[in-house]
Amino acid sequence: MQNRYNEAFRKAAEKYRRTAPLAAETGIIPYKSENGQWIPSPYAGNGWWTGGFWPGLMWQLYAAEKDGFFMDEARRTQALLIDQFRVFRELNHDVGFMYLLSCGADYKLTGDGQARTDTLHAASLMMGRFNPAGFIRAWDGPDRTGYAIIDCMMNLSLLYWASRQTGDPRFAHVADIHAHTALREFIRPDGSVSHIIEFDPETGSRVCEHAGQGYALGTQWSRGQAWGLYGFTLAYVNTKNPEYLEAAEKIAANFAAHIREDGLTDCDFCQPDTEERLDNIAGAIAACGFLELEKLTGNDSYRIAALRLVDGLLDHCCDWTDACCGLLTHCTASYHDDGAGRHTNIVYGDYFLVEALAKLCGTDPMLWV
Ligand code: GLY
Repeated sequence: MQNRYNEAFRKAAEKYRRTAPLAAETGIIPYKSENGQWIPSPYAGNGWWTGGFWPGLMWQLYAAEKDGFFMDEARRTQALLIDQFRVFRELNHDVGFMYLLSCGADYKLTGDGQARTDTLHAASLMMGRFNPAGFIRAWDGPDRTGYAIIDCMMNLSLLYWASRQTGDPRFAHVADIHAHTALREFIRPDGSVSHIIEFDPETGSRVCEHAGQGYALGTQWSRGQAWGLYGFTLAYVNTKNPEYLEAAEKIAANFAAHIREDGLTDCDFCQPDTEERLDNIAGAIAACGFLELEKLTGNDSYRIAALRLVDGLLDHCCDWTDACCGLLTHCTASYHDDGAGRHTNIVYGDYFLVEALAKLCGTDPMLWV
């Protein structure tokens, strides 16, 4: 079976050697692919939170293949992301996704000093979003001063990285304060997680939960469950604090109970049966989290869960033809917002599928820490 994953990774690298030049020709950071073309984010262009996944994907392929083509394409798009420091629009808590997988990956894999400086700059921006009342603010906008979201658990890795790089514990302290708020406020008794919690920005007390990108208030948006699973796992990798591992395992148990027979992932674990709505990005992220949990705990059930997810994606939802520039199909950005993509190829789905394959092939450079 191992050969299956090696073969899939090899085919993915071949496919990207063919299709990545199309992105370079148009000068964009790809967000999704449709009708044989790469499409930029429909929202904020290069400033959108997903901009780091394309260079991250190129660095994953570079780490395994040592082909300068992938490095050049990663750096082409990193330059566009660095321009965003000056635009300073949409630079929210997702700077972890944006810069750790791009500049941070560059520094990790090549030792480039400017890439390290750019990553530290992103970490400082994230520090600026910290509210000492106890949380990292998610998004901008006058009505969102108290918003924090589960996705942020993934971005905390940037702060832990910055403390290790600089020897200054402030970054890690902030990450830990936010993570403890998330432990207390986001994880529900059944192991599912909320997407958005609003806090009073003056006192830090909880105001309410908002529905976010899932089906409805109080339901289980599957990508949010995956962010929680992998995010708390990474917090444990960064700190060795057993509270984070316990949280990751609780969320993992709930996710595993919702993996479909075919290995694919519903967009929301509580969505009505009447409508088929998949989000395979969630499955790819969760597979990465499960594989890390297996490494940390030695518990084989996590590998079994990861393989159910990866096999489901390889069996049913990979497009190996050039009719689609990307790879993973049936990705859904948000249950109720089709503007960002429903049942289509979205680049961060490809990133996490390739990261999961790299873990299975033994080439993952672990760009998150
Ligand atoms: N971070 C937003 C999302 O997962 O769509």
